Amino acid sequence: MSDEVQIKGEQGELVVVANRLPVHRTDSGWETSPGGLVSALMPILQRRRGVWVGWAGTATSELAAFTHDGLYNVPVPLSEEEVRDYYEGFSNSTLWPLYHDACQQPQFHRHWWRPYVAVNERFAEIAAREAAPGANVLVQDYHLQLVPGMLRQARPDLRIGFFLHIPFPPVELFAQLPWRQRILEGLLGADVVGFQSRNGAQNFIRLVNRYTQYRGVGSSIDVAGRPVQVREFPISIDYTNIDRLAADPATIQRAAEIRAELGENRTVMLGVDRLDYTKGIDQRLRALHEILRAGRHTVRDLVLVQVSVPSREKVDEYIEIRERIETLVGHINGEFGDVGKMPVHYLRRSLPLEELVAYYVAADVMLVTPLRDGMNLVAKEYCASRRDDTGVLVLSEFTGSANELERAVLVNPHDIDGMAATIERAIAMPRAEQVRRMRSLRQRVRRRTVYDWADDFTAVLAAAGTGGPAGGAVAAKTTGEKR
Ligand code: G6P
Repeated sequence: MSDEVQIKGEQGELVVVANRLPVHRTDSGWETSPGGLVSALMPILQRRRGVWVGWAGTATSELAAFTHDGLYNVPVPLSEEEVRDYYEGFSNSTLWPLYHDACQQPQFHRHWWRPYVAVNERFAEIAAREAAPGANVLVQDYHLQLVPGMLRQARPDLRIGFFLHIPFPPVELFAQLPWRQRILEGLLGADVVGFQSRNGAQNFIRLVNRYTQYRGVGSSIDVAGRPVQVREFPISIDYTNIDRLAADPATIQRAAEIRAELGENRTVMLGVDRLDYTKGIDQRLRALHEILRAGRHTVRDLVLVQVSVPSREKVDEYIEIRERIETLVGHINGEFGDVGKMPVHYLRRSLPLEELVAYYVAADVMLVTPLRDGMNLVAKEYCASRRDDTGVLVLSEFTGSANELERAVLVNPHDIDGMAATIERAIAMPRAEQVRRMRSLRQRVRRRTVYDWADDFTAVLAAAGTGGPAGGAVAAKTTGEKR
């Protein structure tokens, strides 16, 4: 633990506001959650009297603030109804599908919007209380898009950054949202609004020009005299950590065991995703079905390990996608499997990072086939794990990662035949071509890590002016649009 630990009750110079705290509860107490965002922000938070404001992950009434791993955590309580309406409802059944190309029908309910506003208000109030004068506040993701505006109204002295981890949709889709203007104005409370891709940033500026009274030129929007910077900050991984794990003899040993279990002479394909309908897991399975049906590959030479991490299990669409995937796995194994040899090994659980990296090291072909994804860090983790420069990354062109990982084998996951043909090409790729591609992919991932992301974002925020009194304009001036 650092000795500059945040003292309880002291205000933070850097405040992260995110739906989830960077810790989760286990039988033996709080544990830091794995993930790039947490590891990237932790050093700066520990250096700069940091505070993290977020939900503890279960419905609770008040929970006392606490220090863990040198970081001061302030839990935001959510009732059971708020978990249902703000988290499962508006965040994950309205915004999540809408922002992912409406690949499931987004649901618009006024009785979800009101709790979204109320919970955003609670996050903003707590952040306003916890932030020191002139502090920097980093608001994360689609759950909290109203927080920047609310916070600016309460605390015009703060420097506020917002980062969206998921895609930001084009005008035609976002326009469906009955509360579009409120969301845009909420975001405009920030000094810097960051997106994963240039497309997301451009979509935002277009929408602001169309649906608010403010005007954006280039990458700046003039909000009543206060400039708001709008830019892309593609997020990444902790490359060194993954590379180090992949080099660990224990990981190499475990990867060899995995290969021996699966059968030495088979091409090992791997999928690792949250169990989410945006990830294209069913499309990937259908492509595998086509490959086996065509007969050029059989269960003797090919195997897919699909790791699916349970997620948002109370939301109907997630229950349905799980059933769809498990039915498909059953069909494929029933049709093409043999006693002692199945084409699909389906693991519905999360794996510790060390084990996951052993799977990356063991896999000849990595299948990352989302219908839409803000970035996709699994693709980057696979590259970081391939220390011998072999292995083929099959990557959906609809991921943010595809903007950077140009030497991956790109696929359109909606085109099942095309994807089957591309996967067959990946399976057959000569070693020399694998090495040429993987070397370049690894370089790309190494060159820009999640630490660079955090540095870039905080540097742009530090350079941005504070709002001053005019900054209240956005939140004060909410509009005649439907609430
Ligand atoms: C995506 C979102 C994150 C979210 C994560 C897990 O990556 O961008 O904000 O935390 O999914 O989803 P969950 O609903 O479990 O927080």
